[in-house]
Amino acid sequence: MENSKYILVTGGAGYIGSHTVVELVNAGFEPVILDDFRNAKSFIIENIQTILGRKIELINAACQDENNLRTIFQKYKFQGVIHFAADKAVGESVKNPLKYYDNNLSGLVSILKMMEEFKTPSLVFSSSCSVYGNPSLPEGVHGVDETIKELDPESPYANTKLICEQIVQDWIASNPNSNATLLRYFNPIGAHKSGLIGELPQGIPNNLLPYITQTAVGIRKSLTVFGNDYSTADGTCIRDYIHVTDLAVAHVKAIDWLWNQNVGTVEIFNVGTGKGSSVLEVIDIFEKTTNQKLNWEFGPRREGDVQEIFANPAKIESNFGWKAQFDVEEAILDAWNWEIKRPKDA
Ligand code: UD1
Repeated sequence: MENSKYILVTGGAGYIGSHTVVELVNAGFEPVILDDFRNAKSFIIENIQTILGRKIELINAACQDENNLRTIFQKYKFQGVIHFAADKAVGESVKNPLKYYDNNLSGLVSILKMMEEFKTPSLVFSSSCSVYGNPSLPEGVHGVDETIKELDPESPYANTKLICEQIVQDWIASNPNSNATLLRYFNPIGAHKSGLIGELPQGIPNNLLPYITQTAVGIRKSLTVFGNDYSTADGTCIRDYIHVTDLAVAHVKAIDWLWNQNVGTVEIFNVGTGKGSSVLEVIDIFEKTTNQKLNWEFGPRREGDVQEIFANPAKIESNFGWKAQFDVEEAILDAWNWEIKRPKDA
């Protein structure tokens, strides 16, 4: 079969999606963005085009709009779909689980129906390390790997990711035309080097880095560090922070890798750096690399937080020939550059 360069990127105006669109073009692919802007801003599309110096195809629609999707799948013979579009706020998912079960599951099912109808070869699904929950690692084991069987998602959001993984696995088992990767992201941070695209939280940020940068520019008064009594060296939680550009490149590698796999293949990959940082370490790095003083204080633990999780990325490194290129210092600096430059009314 001829190798089509068209890749459908659902949620392509979002944080990880927009960076992936840039890296797809850099690698010679033709991304087509599908986004309904429920959680993204249209200036991001303009800025993607400024970075690339060319126009990118955009369809303003929801994944669930199957009539519309059919027209798109008819027009482009996609080599693959990268499915980002989903709701992703852990706390909101606890308060409003039906929103998450509805949108995250139905969006995926609509996409898979179209892929089946049009025999689209490859799917890259956006999953999350949150499917692991609080992993208990055997003594001496460094980082969580994909073979852990006891998955224990701590929130409805995390549960939707696990259910979606199972939907993809069942679908691939029944479908002789396609293959898939399930990418379990650790904690994406940072922004494109240009400072033109980055994370755009709506309202008060849930995630650590945008909360830090918004506090440092004066939008927020003070960062609350959620808990200081965890069983870690400094008492705060540990995460594997990965530069969003490294994560974006992993998607391009996934598309390339799938092209050389048999139909019926479905593989899970952790996407992380393999290095954990505590909340206090992140604050310290932020202050040192940006020369800013951050207001922060300890507060109670946040419900649903896991104590410590970081990736064992050996599988993705050996299969994709991919390795994170940026360290947490550089990612934090890029997040800061974006915070300074980004439109504040967006
Ligand atoms: C979680 C999920 C991740 C998901 C992401 C989406 C886990 C392990 N990870 O990331 O898969 O994609 O949500 O939003 O569940 N923190 C503070 N103060 C703050 C904000 C955060 O101390 O104001 C701390 C948290 O307690 C945590 C760390 O910073 O220890 C990172 O938090 P956050 O950026 O929200 O990401 P996760 O919750 O790890």
